[in-house]
Amino acid sequence: MGLLQVHTLRIDGLRRPQYVKQEFQFSWILESERKGCVQTGYRIQLWQGEGMIWDSGKVSSGACSGIRYAGPKLQPLQEYVWQVCCWDDYGETAAASDRFRTCRAEKPWHAHWVQPVQKATVPERPAPFEYANRAEEQPRDYKEFQPVQLVRSSIEIEKEVRCAFVHVSAHGLYHLELNGEAVGNDLFAPECTPYDKLIFYQSYDVTRRLKAGKNIFGVALADGWWIGRLGLGSWNCQYGDKKDLFLECEVLFEDGSRAYFGAEKAKAAPSRGSYADLFVGEKYDASAVPEGWSLPEFDDTLWQPVLVTDMPLETLQPQTGQSVRIVKEWEPLAVLRTPNGDTVVDAGQNLAGFLRITLDTGAGCEIVLEYSETLDENGNFFNNIKGVNKDQRDVYITRDGKQSWQPAFTYHGFRYVRINGWPGELSCDQLRVCAVSSEDDFTGDFACSDERLNQLQHNIIWSQISNMVSIPTDCPQREKVGWTGDLTVYAPTMLYLSSAEWFLRRWLKYLRAEQFENGLVPVTAPYWKICREMSRLLGSDTSCGWGDAIVFVPWAIYQETGNQVVLEENYDAMRRWMSYVEREDKNGSWNQGFHFGDWMLPSIIMAGGTPRDTAYATKELFSTAYYAYSAKIMAQIAAALGRLADEKKYERLYQDIRQAFAEKYVRADGSLPLPYQGAYVVSLKFGLIPESKRAGAVNHLCRLIEENGTRLDTGFLSVPFLLDVLCENRHRDLAMRLLFQTECPSWLYMVEHGATTIWESWDCISPEGKVGSYSYNHYAFGCVGDWLYREIAGVQNLEPGYRRVRLCPGIDSGLSWARTSHRTPQGWLAFEWHKEGGKIQVKAEIPIGTAAELGLPGQKSVTVGSGQYEFVWGV
Ligand code: BGC
Repeated sequence: MGLLQVHTLRIDGLRRPQYVKQEFQFSWILESERKGCVQTGYRIQLWQGEGMIWDSGKVSSGACSGIRYAGPKLQPLQEYVWQVCCWDDYGETAAASDRFRTCRAEKPWHAHWVQPVQKATVPERPAPFEYANRAEEQPRDYKEFQPVQLVRSSIEIEKEVRCAFVHVSAHGLYHLELNGEAVGNDLFAPECTPYDKLIFYQSYDVTRRLKAGKNIFGVALADGWWIGRLGLGSWNCQYGDKKDLFLECEVLFEDGSRAYFGAEKAKAAPSRGSYADLFVGEKYDASAVPEGWSLPEFDDTLWQPVLVTDMPLETLQPQTGQSVRIVKEWEPLAVLRTPNGDTVVDAGQNLAGFLRITLDTGAGCEIVLEYSETLDENGNFFNNIKGVNKDQRDVYITRDGKQSWQPAFTYHGFRYVRINGWPGELSCDQLRVCAVSSEDDFTGDFACSDERLNQLQHNIIWSQISNMVSIPTDCPQREKVGWTGDLTVYAPTMLYLSSAEWFLRRWLKYLRAEQFENGLVPVTAPYWKICREMSRLLGSDTSCGWGDAIVFVPWAIYQETGNQVVLEENYDAMRRWMSYVEREDKNGSWNQGFHFGDWMLPSIIMAGGTPRDTAYATKELFSTAYYAYSAKIMAQIAAALGRLADEKKYERLYQDIRQAFAEKYVRADGSLPLPYQGAYVVSLKFGLIPESKRAGAVNHLCRLIEENGTRLDTGFLSVPFLLDVLCENRHRDLAMRLLFQTECPSWLYMVEHGATTIWESWDCISPEGKVGSYSYNHYAFGCVGDWLYREIAGVQNLEPGYRRVRLCPGIDSGLSWARTSHRTPQGWLAFEWHKEGGKIQVKAEIPIGTAAELGLPGQKSVTVGSGQYEFVWGV
């Protein structure tokens, strides 16, 4: 290994992406064994086969991310190799290369959408809140679920193939096979997008898979997000009531001619006895699936021709980012026999995914798998998600012989699976727990001398993995909805723990697509009909904190990456959002109508109130506070983009709201009319308390905490700032006491009550032991991760993209050691501290391009450049 190395080459934040368009950005990581090294220049070359397409020439720059491609137009569906060569100030050089593929050219399609002849799904429109709270329904027969459709599309290859791609999408979900074998390992294609505005197609290279003569594309079609029962209220038919397929195979022959094959002549048949709903689950009758149905020799005379439709092709777009995949699998922890006699599998971990079963048996056994997140007080199976279509139930009917099955079109939020109908003795080695996610590139880590905090960190990561499934979801079982507010609070933690930039930028595109003409940013993206209906019942399509995601999330991405592109691509949408709120503004306050406010505020919930009660109790003050904070961040965004007039305008707006807020809410002694911790937290954090009343407000906050038994009482919108506000106002000791609190509500209460993910409500399992009907897998309250990394491990990002950091050990935490590592845009940053006797030993690894200020709290720091350092300080 040389002294200088370049690695982790990425395009738009992704390794080896497959759908690169004309505009994209390069990044890499440079690493040296020398201290204080800086990159002095780089050179990028782009190759197609032997031919060089672009050469940036040597550019004198320290930048290693956000480098825009500035070469000629790239050819569609081609593989390109790019090489980067870097120089450092010691005169060393290093180079590395990687490849990517471009997407299909934007040109008219030859193929059409086709539709298997099928019965339409009947729309169901349950009343959202009523149903969500209703007890379990009577046993059901699932007769209203329409079967999975199987489609056979034939193509004849008569000449030598040079290359071939198939582009596929569906109204619903699809699973593609070619001549009997699966193509790709993506799950839930074509992914979840606002389908009426954009729908992805996936492209697969089938050059080596096509053979001379007849080939069959076999496609199974399921309901997915198009027809399935979605969201809290579980409405189906969000976009349509029938499943459709889009397929175009583009073949370039060795003689230079081209052919395009659609599925217009395909034949289809329902898969007997099967159905698949993304939420309710999947039923698969292995004994009824026609054997070899996707092989060329299969006899499909009795299958029906598909109908050719003129459904819109303009909304089809190449997929961006990664597909959902199985990211981890393992053998379950145990097969339990519960006190009431059920056989229940314990995965050992709460997750989003499913079980894969393997067995050797005769045909016709009906195995029922029911998924849930928790057992009840007595250790029995307990369905914690109530309501219509919240069953989470898969059914597999065996065929003869050795067989293995996992659902293809559904996933569940679960730790426990009750299994009925298993032939013979069930053992762990017949099962695999499969966790699904869009993300498997983890870039952040935290550990310390307290195992309970390590478990908290574990829980944060698992809630993140479970809720990055195509879109950022609130929870993987009850709703699977892209609620905007959850991300407003969680985005900084998400960005620290994984390379979520691409994932969030992709989702922001959906959010922009769903923005109203008048600038309103809705509470979810996609904004499904069921979500619209809930908003209608509540009286508003948006809410403070939720709509503000359009400002907060790009800002968090910018802090993480230092790349302005995310601010640029969202700037217009942010401005329109601010104008919308300004129009709603009455004399410096935004509190018209409904807001979710400090959602899930524990004292209200624990006293028997509903989540909606938490909204009504807090919405007025919170809406104006968030309005002010968004204006403040907008001023900073405008400044970062060099839009000075806007900067002034938003700064003025912030000052106006601040003044109105102070006049309306802040009393002479610094108290607020709202007797909740969260009200003080956001008012202090957002700078809304006049300086002269600040000490008073801080005292009131501390008093509320103490009166609550040193327990927090914060909901979604205030919890991310609670510990920071205490630290910033000389009450670090109180912040630490809240962190280490184990009584409800607190983070360690969840840990001590067996949580393996972050709960939606602080009291999912109440102090009296009651097991609640909430989600046990919501990342929102995991936003404390961001504080742990900054204040306990001690890595603080002082300049967007970690160009300047402060490393300051959290030695007042009572811990004897802590460490964290994080892959910044420049490379891995690691920091570790140990406290022993009167000594603090710290170890730091600083990436090239980052300046680090190292020091103990309240003491002078030393500034160092890249490299590995060890210091011992006396305290
Ligand atoms: C979700 C939350 C979401 C909220 C809106 C809930 O049902 O699970 O996470 O943000 O609704 O307030």
